[in-house]
Amino acid sequence: MKLTRRDLIKLGAGAGVASLSGAWSPLMAGEAAIIKTTIPSTGQQVPCVGIGTVKFRGDPGSAGMAPFKQTLETFHELGGQVLDTSPNYGNSEEVLGRLLADLKLRDKVFMATKVDREDRLEGMARMEESFRRLGGKIDLMQVHNLRGTAAELGTMMSWKAQGRFRYIGVTTHRVSQHEDMALVMNSYPLDFIQVNYSLADRAAAERILPLAQDKGIAVLVNRPFGNGKLFGAVKGRDLPDWAAEIDAHSWGQVFLKYIISHPAATIPIPGTTKPHHARDNMGAMVGRLPDPNLRQEMESYMDALL
Ligand SMILES: NC(=O)c1ccc[n+]([C@@H]2O[C@H](COP(=O)([O-])OP(=O)(O)OC[C@H]3O[C@@H](n4cnc5c(N)ncnc54)[C@H](OP(=O)(O)O)[C@@H]3O)[C@@H](O)[C@H]2O)c1
Repeated sequence: MKLTRRDLIKLGAGAGVASLSGAWSPLMAGEAAIIKTTIPSTGQQVPCVGIGTVKFRGDPGSAGMAPFKQTLETFHELGGQVLDTSPNYGNSEEVLGRLLADLKLRDKVFMATKVDREDRLEGMARMEESFRRLGGKIDLMQVHNLRGTAAELGTMMSWKAQGRFRYIGVTTHRVSQHEDMALVMNSYPLDFIQVNYSLADRAAAERILPLAQDKGIAVLVNRPFGNGKLFGAVKGRDLPDWAAEIDAHSWGQVFLKYIISHPAATIPIPGTTKPHHARDNMGAMVGRLPDPNLRQEMESYMDALL
């Protein structure tokens, strides 16, 4: 039997990953088994932390690409697979397409991108461009910030039926769109949503995450560090004693383990272009996760600082 992190949480998770490590879907990253998330609509398992690429921009032939390349290499070496991009992130799609081809990693990643046109034909052209720039399969196509939802989901459902995407979804990073997102979740057969959720911003836990759990929708979590705000709040502070109970060796790992341990199928996608940050973030996929009591303690701790 393979156990995912959700099974581990049901079993009382926080304790015992190490003792169960022979039993639950281990993907070896060095010697450590990493935690994987099961995508409810298919049962596919993916490593439970991805990467956001909003800052992967610039001249693809320039020396400025070196840190991006090293970041992707580190991400992959430590077991990362899920990448999130968008045609709205400057030339991020082009940069990723080139770098992943150079690194011969294009077929090894789970690629998520977006579309945001009101007009159906424009949306189709935009998605064809994403295929061209990314130079390979797109696993997940998302309607960006719910723009043109009805038009785009029509095309996306038919392209999914043709096998062009494996998964479809919608995104937002604004609490003011959560109500609309819930309506879309109740109206369309989504595989994924993407939403803002972190210790600094827990509104999604009120309605969106429970709904995702009920409907079997996987969740990419954007702004997992509150766009960096969380690091500002803990600047100069040592990790609390309870961080050791969840094998967290940095504040980044504390923040990510909080998200991973939510019982919905959550996959945080922290944005970084720095190899040492990618290494740090990948470390959150290893070791124990907080149980519901510790999650509450983490919330109170951060609420006092924010
Ligand atoms: N509506 C949408 O669809 C939407 C909206 C927003 C974001 N997104 C997606 O979500 C991704 C993540 O969101 P985000 O990038 O806006 O915010 P975020 O992940 O909450 O925060 C990113 C910030 O955290 C820093 N950081 C990353 N890892 C760190 C670490 N281990 N230690 C210290 N600092 C660290 C980054 O700095 P460095 O760059 O210096 O590492 C950057 O300043 C985006 O890249 C994008 O793919 C989607």
